[in-house]
Amino acid sequence: VAAAAAALSISVSATGAFAACDDGEIVIKFSHVTNTDRHPKGIAATLFQTRVNEEMNGTACVEVYPNSTLYNDDQVLEAMLQGDVQMAAPSLSKFETFTKQFRIFDLPFMFKNIDAVDAFQTSDTGQAMKDSMQRRGLQGLEFWHNGMKQFSANKPLLMPEDAKGLKFRVQPSDVLVAQMEALGASPQPMAFSEVYGALQTGVVDGQENTWSNIYGQKFFEVQDGTTETNHGIIDYLVVTSVDWWESLDPAVRDQIATILREVTETRNAESTAVNEEAKQAVIAAGGEVRELTAEQRQAWVDAMKPVWEKFEGDVGTDNIAAAQSINA
Ligand code: LMR
Repeated sequence: VAAAAAALSISVSATGAFAACDDGEIVIKFSHVTNTDRHPKGIAATLFQTRVNEEMNGTACVEVYPNSTLYNDDQVLEAMLQGDVQMAAPSLSKFETFTKQFRIFDLPFMFKNIDAVDAFQTSDTGQAMKDSMQRRGLQGLEFWHNGMKQFSANKPLLMPEDAKGLKFRVQPSDVLVAQMEALGASPQPMAFSEVYGALQTGVVDGQENTWSNIYGQKFFEVQDGTTETNHGIIDYLVVTSVDWWESLDPAVRDQIATILREVTETRNAESTAVNEEAKQAVIAAGGEVRELTAEQRQAWVDAMKPVWEKFEGDVGTDNIAAAQSINA
């Protein structure tokens, strides 16, 4: 099954068809929106598929659907609650309608790097967040890392004023909307799969994303350049439905959970390196990358950090304090 799955993963995106699982196996459709290589999530999902299909052959079988070929992030959680897909790993910004707790991850300059995010997520507070949507039918399984966000636009961005009046695509998150408004920009929530076209046609002027997404979606090709702001993070929650998860035989569920935990540990340790490689690939492909001086970066902090105040009630001042003490 594993070899067949690997061979067929090419035909998935070409035809939308997938027939790698054997009769009688529990089929785990895993839907995501990014590319599969040079991407922390893409690599982790493929490794999870390979391991389940080898180690649980005859019992369970994962079919990964990358690149929004099955669902985009706006649809996948509803599809999961309907039982049409069993696993996904949307970014934490995409859970807005299910929980407000994850808003802490969208607040600009909350975490200084992915190690700080990791420390927060592995704390008791972070681990409890995985269970925060059970009442709504969703069970968080593991946090997967991507990396730090950068801004790109159709003109150079060096000071926050440069973003003023521009239209920026954002993920569907009230925090990200407020962040762009704080810059005097116009936020446009939009599905990930539509961003390249929107940048290319000028429907939006800019966007924010990690190096792996800027490289994987080729955003740099249709932007003037990317500014290394490291102003926020993109991270994921591997999620399933409570109904499906509880319907599994406990031994099967434990084995899937163990494989997922091991894949998480292995791949999370590599996420920063994967993004650095993607950044170098952007540069090698001719993408313009701009660095900020300490003074310029401070101006972005001063412009965006006031957004925290608006969401303090949702995320809790104690959680903000905990995140800040990790940064120190
Ligand atoms: C985005 O929508 O920009 C990202 O969440 C996509 C992803 O899954 O990394």
